[in-house]
Amino acid sequence: MNPSRDTRCWAVVPAAGIGRRMAAGVPKQYLRIGASTVLEWTLAVLAREPRIAGIMVAVLADDPWWPSLSPPVGRSVETVTGGAERADSVLNALRALKVRGADDADWVLVHDAARPCLSGDDLGRLIETLSDDPIGGLLGVPVADTIKRVGPAGGVEATVDRDGLWRALTPQMFRLGALTTAIESARAAGVSVTDEASAMEWAGHRPRIVEGSPGNIKITTPDDMTLARHQFVDEAGRRAREGGGTMQRTGFGYDAHRFAEDGDAIRLGGVDIPHERGLAAHSDGDVAIHALCDALLGAAALGDIGRHFPDTDPSYRGADSRELLRVVVERVNEAGYRVVNADLTIVAQAPRLSPHIEDMRERLAADLGVARERINVKATTTEGMGFVGRREGIASYAVVSIVHP
Ligand code: CTP
Ligand code: MG
Repeated sequence: MNPSRDTRCWAVVPAAGIGRRMAAGVPKQYLRIGASTVLEWTLAVLAREPRIAGIMVAVLADDPWWPSLSPPVGRSVETVTGGAERADSVLNALRALKVRGADDADWVLVHDAARPCLSGDDLGRLIETLSDDPIGGLLGVPVADTIKRVGPAGGVEATVDRDGLWRALTPQMFRLGALTTAIESARAAGVSVTDEASAMEWAGHRPRIVEGSPGNIKITTPDDMTLARHQFVDEAGRRAREGGGTMQRTGFGYDAHRFAEDGDAIRLGGVDIPHERGLAAHSDGDVAIHALCDALLGAAALGDIGRHFPDTDPSYRGADSRELLRVVVERVNEAGYRVVNADLTIVAQAPRLSPHIEDMRERLAADLGVARERINVKATTTEGMGFVGRREGIASYAVVSIVHP
């Protein structure tokens, strides 16, 4: 960093966009990649850089999603309300930093919430390269494709010489005071500012470009989401290999449900089984699948079913547990793992389950995307002992094994 001891380095994360082009129902920074949201992954990269003193995130006014995020452990992360344009969100964050005691000479790294694939190496190199620079700069990638200028009717008008053309990425790193002034005056002059560097350029500065990885994509459309997920799967695989011995993992799950006063069937392993009473539950009460979901999540260290499908969320009322199972499998796959096998034990005094075991295996195998031979379902009674024996409810256990291919 700067030789002056007092010069600090802050991160500003504009995360107040609505993701119009993604059109996902929630802003794209709150879509999930594996265990976490895009924004959590983005914050995690910034939080791992020890030279960053604190992070200021610009979020939507009354953002209903932010409060349920898990901020990086041991890090100061604060929020400020964003504005109509990205530049307004950044400006609000810069002003908030100033109010909290940041100095005009401090460095600020502005990084899009929608760029979770930033590597720690690129981030570190940017800080290192620019820490003695009078102005600052940004990560960029030289343009590799031939570039065409296309007219409104779709016809190519010209081939643009790509020599010296770069794509601007983030983070973009400038001094707090200079950047604030540059954005403020560009805005006042009605100049459109799509990144920090363009504001600095408008103010007459020449930001330096530091070559970064083309993998540092800005998630904009559903296709970008697929690309980002693939990058995370590759990364998870690399870590699993480096972690040694973590390639193959095991998970365990347990669930129990009480019989309801009414009903005429229970659902176990996705199969409807006639019985004198149903099971009381928020969802369809499929204890076998719930135990299996927990085992899968446990194996991949992704928490538990309650974290992924809170029973306070009305959309899961009466939910088909097979649908939840398929989402769980997707999340485990996104984390880089494939299911090897699953073994379930259902503990029930009644009804008799053996006639339904094969149906359960078939459904579970389909949802897990594996052959039926990899799924085992057992049923047992407790010979009249305990809550199961008293016919108060049904319990279920599951063990699964997953592997990184
Ligand atoms: N952003 C912001 N405030 C805005 C607009 C955008 O903080 N008023 C943030 C976005 O959350 C994103 C980054 O700036 O992290 C880059 O913007 P963009 O990719 O355009 O995101 P959105 O504006 O959300 O997407 P869209 O333009 O498709 O609506
Ligand atoms: Mg936008």
